[in-house]
Amino acid sequence: MSGSRFLRACRREEVDCTPVWFMRQAGRYMEEYRKLREEYSMIELCKNPELATQVTLQPIRRFDLDAAIIFADILLPLPGMGVDFEFAVGEGPRIHRPVDTAEEVNRLHVGDPEEALSFVFDALRMVRSELDSEIALIGFAGAPFTIASYMIEGGYSRNFLKTKAMMYSNSGSWHRMMEILAEVTCRYLKAQIEAGAQAVQLFDSWIGALGADDYQKYVLPYSKFIFDSLKGSSVPTIHFGTGTAGFLDLMSQAGGTVQSVDWRIPLDQAWETVGTDLAIQGNLDPAAMMGGVEELEEKVHTVLEKAGGRPGHIFNLGHGFFPQTPIPNVEAVINWVHGFRGRER
Ligand code: CP3
Repeated sequence: MSGSRFLRACRREEVDCTPVWFMRQAGRYMEEYRKLREEYSMIELCKNPELATQVTLQPIRRFDLDAAIIFADILLPLPGMGVDFEFAVGEGPRIHRPVDTAEEVNRLHVGDPEEALSFVFDALRMVRSELDSEIALIGFAGAPFTIASYMIEGGYSRNFLKTKAMMYSNSGSWHRMMEILAEVTCRYLKAQIEAGAQAVQLFDSWIGALGADDYQKYVLPYSKFIFDSLKGSSVPTIHFGTGTAGFLDLMSQAGGTVQSVDWRIPLDQAWETVGTDLAIQGNLDPAAMMGGVEELEEKVHTVLEKAGGRPGHIFNLGHGFFPQTPIPNVEAVINWVHGFRGRER
């Protein structure tokens, strides 16, 4: 079997064993990363293609992973649209001037994402030239809803009240904002593919804040616009969200050749809902990484058993690693996934 195990699984082709990669596989749980962070800020790491390459490759050098994800952040396109932000220590992202009124929405612009984000494309080219051909390179962007929520709330929110207030009481501004975000995201992902991304993941991390009706009315058309416009590129597209058990069918209608699911729904049930003509990614609870090894092994096997040996399963977490994740547990999970033989071949 030739080619990347990860890309084969995305296309639902036969694989010698289940491929595995992890969201947030580069980051603070790794000593190598923490060391670089003593010298550079998160943004400095992202904007310097040599450093971003180094960080992208840190988990690849240490673990037997099947894919690398470019080191960047979903918020990087914001300044190009006229929205400045910072990563405040211990607090997460902070948007300097939230986009929470019609006037602020009118100031947003598509800008020139191909120019403004050139450091990401440079990093993709560098990483690709250093990666073995069996290891796939994943590009990514935030989905319009999740990015809009940061812009409107000014940071992470528990209840997304300002976001929903705009949706429900100023739908003209909401739709204008989503149109701009869809256009930027589309151009950003296309340029990542041109620079060497062999698959792209759209992160709609906080979409589970919505019910099915609102998803369909306020979000689906924009995510669909992005996936539809990537169809010509012929790379696999991964659609990620958390808390999506109530509208996975709608999410898969929006698009993506791989649907990523979290641990709140059993993998087999999720796969049945989206249809086995899609590949599926997931869905270990990242908190399981913190538990005892026996429970962890059982949870990993449950995920693999629910995938049932069907082609098209990519093992991942249901959301990203916590910074406290113990390295030996990461190694163990990769070994269990690659060594799993509970299926007919
Ligand atoms: O390894 C990888 O997965 C690639 C790198 C990556 C980062 N952010 C690096 C990062 C990816 C794919 C992201 C996506 C991202 N960023 C998402 C979607 C995925 C998810 O987790 O839901 C979101 C919502 C963000 C926004 C964001 N960036 C937040 C909320 C934070 C602060 C919270 C935190 O974990 O500290 C960031 C900062 C960030 N992005 C860090 C990393 C490694 C931590 C920065 C640091 O202090 O070193």
